[in-house]
Amino acid sequence: MSTPQQKNEVRDQWLDKTLRPSEWEEYIGQEGIKTNLHVLLSAARARGHAPEHVLLYGPPGLGKTTLAHLIASDLGVAMKITSGPAIERVGDLAAILTNLGTNDILFIDEIHRLNRSVEEVLYPALEAGVLDIIIGKGPSARTIQLELPSFTLVAATTRIALLSAPLRSRFSGGVFRLEFYTNEEIERIIERSATILGVPLTPGASRAIAQRSRFTPRTANYLLKRCRDYAQVHNRPLDTKLVEETLALLGYDAVGLQETDRNLLRIVIEKFGGGPVGLSTLAAATAEEEATIEDVYEPYLIRSGLIERTPRGRVVTALGYEHLGALPEEPHQQRMGI
Ligand code: ADE
Repeated sequence: MSTPQQKNEVRDQWLDKTLRPSEWEEYIGQEGIKTNLHVLLSAARARGHAPEHVLLYGPPGLGKTTLAHLIASDLGVAMKITSGPAIERVGDLAAILTNLGTNDILFIDEIHRLNRSVEEVLYPALEAGVLDIIIGKGPSARTIQLELPSFTLVAATTRIALLSAPLRSRFSGGVFRLEFYTNEEIERIIERSATILGVPLTPGASRAIAQRSRFTPRTANYLLKRCRDYAQVHNRPLDTKLVEETLALLGYDAVGLQETDRNLLRIVIEKFGGGPVGLSTLAAATAEEEATIEDVYEPYLIRSGLIERTPRGRVVTALGYEHLGALPEEPHQQRMGI
């Protein structure tokens, strides 16, 4: 038996799939990446080969998985989806690779979490299309080499810096960084999603959702769905006022910060005089993982100009202070009369 919350999650996941663009023409934004992929895919298709391997990186929710789906459907091939942490052993990778069809796409999400022994076996698979497997142990151990079907690896990561240089260099088809969307692109995504969901919304409403969507389509679609629920429950039109009420209820402020984001800003201000503060100190003070701060909170706070990353650590900007209604401390030199 599933709980109402589980039912909601299943429904949300189903809706997310419905909202995912299935054609290039429907995919809004990331124009540079789309153009580059178009050249890569067209050339490979004309030669009758699988395209070279591609790495997509950038903050969560910007559409890396969607791009991988579009690549597979553009080529008319199947896509096997897995993730770095799911491939625990060399044998897991061997099973995946030997089950691929010719020219299929292998999508590995969170590739930075692949363990080293699996990574080493992946290199010859990517470069020479072979799998070197060691059978047995000790003096009687021997290596056998399996030929693999040709395939394209599309990998995604939020942490490019954690990828080893040898792994990074294997993505000869291109390494593409997804950028945050503009508010205008997010508005178009919201309007497209609203049309698919069959919910009429006013232009003011899509603007109000966009402003709180952290320049991220996944957040935009999530907020749209929550507004739709609220409108349905209260039998009201989806207008600006309803958006403001729904999102306040969910704890989103006027620029899309949640309590955890505001707390992070507040801690830098109150405990560290506005910074600079190092990542590990900040992680300890906020009781958050360093990776969560770097991947989830920081990119948006930096992009919206609320914090800055300096060589000595994170610093809250004047805008960050203003947003919390706090006053910046006087610079150290002024306080000391220097
Ligand atoms: N839904 C999620 N991401 C999208 C995008 N980039 N374009 C259109 N719809 C989307």
